[in-house]
Amino acid sequence: MLERFERVAVFGGVYSNHLALAALLEDARRRSVDAIFCLGDLGAFGPNPDKVFPLLRAGGVSAMAGNYDQSIASDLGDCQCGYTDPRDNHYAHLSYRYTYGRTSSENRAWMRTLPAEIRFMLGRYRVLCCHGSPRRTNEFLWESTTPTHFIDKLAVAHDADVIAGTHTGIKWHRRLASDRHFVNVGVVGRPENDGRTNVWYSILDARPDFTVTFVPLDYDHESLAREMEIEELPREFVETIRTGWWSTCLEVLPAKERKKGRF
Ligand SMILES: [Fe+2]
Repeated sequence: MLERFERVAVFGGVYSNHLALAALLEDARRRSVDAIFCLGDLGAFGPNPDKVFPLLRAGGVSAMAGNYDQSIASDLGDCQCGYTDPRDNHYAHLSYRYTYGRTSSENRAWMRTLPAEIRFMLGRYRVLCCHGSPRRTNEFLWESTTPTHFIDKLAVAHDADVIAGTHTGIKWHRRLASDRHFVNVGVVGRPENDGRTNVWYSILDARPDFTVTFVPLDYDHESLAREMEIEELPREFVETIRTGWWSTCLEVLPAKERKKGRF
């Protein structure tokens, strides 16, 4: 029997941004949600990964594993981020080495307990939370290149009325056939490559029908940037936090999503 809710907050891609996570927990509480779900990738890009875990626990967040968490929990040599470009892989490797080295063995052990998916009822809707797609943790489903019939087939095959994912880092929502839905809930770890410093999470509501509200979240990004500098993380990562433009991990973006950015 699946747990049933009416209104939930869903987010992904924390990327060690503990300040944005703390802001989200406060914001979601104010908006009276029944439950809070995290779709994975607790580490990457940001500073001091261990700061994220106590916040998740104190906030009563139900979390699942993303590609990053699966890698760290299994002591793998890379993040399985799915990049193909050598420059993207170079930065992914720097970030992964730092995050792996700074995640305590207790937190790594906790990550091993995270499920690969989460299911619940939202009103009458069967919700399936995944990281990339229901068939692959690190699959990139972009708005501009994902055919509707393909995600609809995924929803039917996986017994879901709503699929929620996060891996690409850019939010979008599409209504499918028969009131089924796909939602990329966005990420709270870094801004959305639009020149704004805020990050995004989603509120899913089923009263009376399914709706998604994408919530812009401001947080003390300058403090995070300074903490990243103290940790000597790549200045390209710090720039993204300060400017809202991605300067790494761009090669995976389809033409349409890339055109919206600066680089
Ligand atoms: Fe991911």
